[in-house]
Amino acid sequence: MQETISAQKDKKLFIKTWGCQMNVYDSNRMADILSPFGYKTVDSPIDADMVILNTCHIREKATDKVFSELGRLKEHKEDKEKNGGRMLMAVAGCVAQAEGDFIMERAPYVDMVFGPQTYHELPEMIAKTLGAFGTQRLVNTEFPAISKFDFLPEEHVNQGASAFLSIQEGCDKFCTFCVVPYTRGGEYSRNVEGLIDEAKRLVDAGALEITLLGQNVNAFHGEASDGSIWGLGKLIKEMAKIDGLERIRYTTSHPRDMDEDLIEAHGTEKKLMPFLHLPVQSGSDKILKAMNRKHGRDLYFKVIEDLRKARPDLAFSSDFIVGFPGESDQDFEDTMDMVRQVNYASCYSFIFSARPGTPAANMQNLVRPDVASERLARLQALLNEQQLEFNKKCEGLVMPVLMERKGKKDGQLIGKTPYFQSIHTQANERLIGKIIDINIKTGYDKSLSGDIVTSEKISAAE
Ligand code: SAM
Ligand code: SF4
Ligand code: F3S
Repeated sequence: MQETISAQKDKKLFIKTWGCQMNVYDSNRMADILSPFGYKTVDSPIDADMVILNTCHIREKATDKVFSELGRLKEHKEDKEKNGGRMLMAVAGCVAQAEGDFIMERAPYVDMVFGPQTYHELPEMIAKTLGAFGTQRLVNTEFPAISKFDFLPEEHVNQGASAFLSIQEGCDKFCTFCVVPYTRGGEYSRNVEGLIDEAKRLVDAGALEITLLGQNVNAFHGEASDGSIWGLGKLIKEMAKIDGLERIRYTTSHPRDMDEDLIEAHGTEKKLMPFLHLPVQSGSDKILKAMNRKHGRDLYFKVIEDLRKARPDLAFSSDFIVGFPGESDQDFEDTMDMVRQVNYASCYSFIFSARPGTPAANMQNLVRPDVASERLARLQALLNEQQLEFNKKCEGLVMPVLMERKGKKDGQLIGKTPYFQSIHTQANERLIGKIIDINIKTGYDKSLSGDIVTSEKISAAE
């Protein structure tokens, strides 16, 4: 079987990724598993031997994007065939899981559809599809009893100075609007030992920052080698001991799973960055209940207060959904009030999108689209104001910045502050992948700019 797909060396693999960071992590792991079979990732689908679209199903527009992309790719596939080649076209990720058969029906040129829990079977799936007697179309949306993490090979893709590490997957919360429990399956935590090993390998490969990922990352309850169960706080404290690892982040967390140990870690672990994405979705108790978020606004305020006590400079972000069925003017005002009280550093906000198969898709009392749009505009205006204010407050401070990539302008580099702000500065390319002190000059609405602090400038200031 392995021979079937290894016959040709240097096959071109193009992966396009939508959605959350877990999909980014998964795309890297798919590249890892295919690399021993001669597949090398390329930046363009033209002339590729295999194209994988790693998709997101969270909102309606996300699915539409997949179908338009498939339409464009069809032409590349036809061009390749005209020249006597073969391009395998695959749809992976959450749209694949939710709409596998529909994709096969609507896009007959798609060869493979497979869900997020099947990636470890990729070589076998490709061999089956290529088939001895011509292409056999394949759909695999099973939730296998075994965990893919136990079967994926060690990482080959070098993620650079800032790396993702999936520690938990799936969700048992069943918020009424959300597809994740259906597309990713039930909550699963990886074993502690495997995670520490992977973190060490990432650091050896050059990572200074690791972001621990999970759809419900603070519900993490991984088994350690002595059989005990660790929560996220304990895992972070252990990871913080890794020499060479400078920064730890985690996302996405649920307010209900913010336990004492994790809150304490924010106060004691200097490597844990002072920025937390803690989505609340709505500030109205009535809507939180209808969303099945399993907590009210008071719990959210209490968690924020406890976290701020542990780490006073902690900056927060959240996700909000407006126009959820039944959301009245007062419910929306409760959300605005919550935003004013918490005062966020940055946030994401969306209009409710009815997702097939979720309970909220059948709810009555829909909010008129024009009303929802107007609420979104008001909310975003407030959030933008807060973000600008937060960025302006940083002017004049010196912050350690992880330099990530080149900017659009000549000689410009882009990096991240501890508070997850993007910052641009004039700096030499060789500083990419390093943490450099930057003197913040200007705070903009979505980013910062500043100058590198040289030792001369520091001594001049002293
Ligand atoms: N697990 C995270 C949590 O509990 O908040 C969120 C996961 S989801 C991938 C990211 C965000 O998408 C959610 O926080 C929510 O704001 C938004 N979202 C999810 N389903 C949505 C829907 N049906 N309509 C609009 N926005 C949605
Ligand atoms: Fe979706 Fe809710 Fe689970 Fe987050 S906690 S992934 S919003 S079901
Ligand atoms: Fe999207 Fe699936 Fe992530 S629906 S947000 S890719 S878990």
